[in-house]
Amino acid sequence: MTNKIRYFIANWKMYGDLGSLKSIKNVIKFSRLSKSKKFKIIYCPPYTLLSDFVDTLKKSSIETGAQNIHENYDFGAHTGFINSKMLKNLGVKYVIIGHSENRTLGEDHKQINKKILSAIKSKLNVIFCIGETSFQRKNKKTNIILKKQIMNGLKGIGKKCKIIVAYEPVWSIGTGVVPNNLELEKNIKFIKSIISKKFNNYKILYGGSVSPNNIKKLNMIDLLDGYLIGGASQSSKNLLI
Ligand code: PGA
Repeated sequence: MTNKIRYFIANWKMYGDLGSLKSIKNVIKFSRLSKSKKFKIIYCPPYTLLSDFVDTLKKSSIETGAQNIHENYDFGAHTGFINSKMLKNLGVKYVIIGHSENRTLGEDHKQINKKILSAIKSKLNVIFCIGETSFQRKNKKTNIILKKQIMNGLKGIGKKCKIIVAYEPVWSIGTGVVPNNLELEKNIKFIKSIISKKFNNYKILYGGSVSPNNIKKLNMIDLLDGYLIGGASQSSKNLLI
């Protein structure tokens, strides 16, 4: 992992208000001063803060992403939702799609696929989340589930599109439990074996309870291109691990 650019994507979920903008000032400073340019930081705050983040991060190398979109590319009567074009118009560069917290609420493969197609049409970078539940893992269904999520979610997407896959075992999100390196490496290899046939340009990240306590060990996995970080990303100190 030493010579490549690592992604640190902060998923703020439903946390943060205008006061939280102060906390990213340190991160901006760090990214400016750091001689090593071997990281890429992306903040995905809630919708309410997107505009402020785009504005605050404008003169830095840090970019802004959203946490979801509606599956329709066109404008329409969808109360409470926003589409990919609205994000693009705001200056947002990335969007998280397929997060397990949304899959649990009923988001299905078809919707996820439509969202990804819409995001790509709007020239947003997609952070596509996949991962097995604890039940599926216990029943040795991890590979079947991951393959199904990838094949369905990325259906019809051109080989030239850039895609960021975030492998997030559901049992690891917010629990403090992280897969051991052997298991993680095996799953990342499996994901890579499918993704590398479908795309020329891809990154594979890990997400789930990443923190300053486990990052060194995770960094030992050379196949990983970085992390999608939830809880720990709200503190600027923790994000830069
Ligand atoms: P966590 O969340 O780091 O708090 O486990 C990760 C995520 O849900 O993206």
